[in-house]
Amino acid sequence: MDDKIEVVRREALDAIAAAQSMDELQQVRIQYLGKKGSIQALMGVMKSLSKEEKPAFGQKVNLCKQEVTDAVAQRQKQLEAKELAARLVDEKIDITLPGDNITTGSMHPLFMIQQQLEDLFIGMGYKVAEGPELEQDHYNFELANIPKDHPARDMQDTFYVDPNTLLRTHTTAMQMRELEKARGETPIKLICPGKVYRRDDDDATHSHQFMQCEGLVVGENVTLADLKGTLEFMANRMFGEGRTIRFRPSYFPFTEPSVEVDVSCPFCNGKGCSVCKGSGWIEILGAGMVHPHVLEMNGFDSEKCSGFAFGVGLERVAMLKYGIDDIRNFYTNDLRFLKNFDRFD
Ligand code: DAH
Repeated sequence: MDDKIEVVRREALDAIAAAQSMDELQQVRIQYLGKKGSIQALMGVMKSLSKEEKPAFGQKVNLCKQEVTDAVAQRQKQLEAKELAARLVDEKIDITLPGDNITTGSMHPLFMIQQQLEDLFIGMGYKVAEGPELEQDHYNFELANIPKDHPARDMQDTFYVDPNTLLRTHTTAMQMRELEKARGETPIKLICPGKVYRRDDDDATHSHQFMQCEGLVVGENVTLADLKGTLEFMANRMFGEGRTIRFRPSYFPFTEPSVEVDVSCPFCNGKGCSVCKGSGWIEILGAGMVHPHVLEMNGFDSEKCSGFAFGVGLERVAMLKYGIDDIRNFYTNDLRFLKNFDRFD
């Protein structure tokens, strides 16, 4: 009988030692210590023993059970330690490795200016209009009061595709499209930002492609004072509170009167510095009251309504706002330049 116990004990201890994983050990535990396991089966043998033999046999089986139980617990500890060690190697993170550089794009400065302008004018109830860059002479010039022989055409060296088709030289073409579309109905209150093109030689302040934002308001009793208030609001939002603006008489065929608009220099607060060349003022845009003839050509009764318009160059605003000294930076896609703008909202 004792041999039987010894056989089971040996087998169990060997199997425990041979178990290489927690799963294997669990199997072994069930096989020997489970309700239907080999050690329990030894207890069953007791029935066939004499009264005298029973206590000693029972004690030995119990000892065997205890020894196997202890051996399982010990092996479990070893296996847990082994699995943990393996996991630590497996999941090791080398914190000295350089991190993955996640490069994100950033907003183009001109697009930022466009969005800021859109935000501020939408806030005043303006709509944002869009139109074609490949434009008809009719909208770019004719409806803007610039007929074929008009000297103002020379001011805007134009890329012609054919005698009637051109790359728009100003967003004023969109102003004409919108006026025509309204068929004399007021009020109109919109801006049109977009690309424009001129046959200029590129240098620090000229680019054959650039951006403008046109503004147009038409209604009853729209005055030059409305224009001034609107532009002063815009100057404050774009260049910081405390800016003032001034009008200087100018000439555009599509406005009467026409003005050039200066903003008080944001760099020296109007005192005079190298940016404003000592004048305290910086020219930012052209504007005026929509010419009555333009209104009439587009089907409006110029006796009953009036309007103001303005056209601002986005590069000029961005250059002033962010201290950029060469307009070509906007179009050469140099990441060292563009990256500077990822810290602005
Ligand atoms: N179209 C003009 C230009 O490109 C800018 C301009 C001036 C637009 C006066 C206007 C305006 O709407 O009223 O130089």
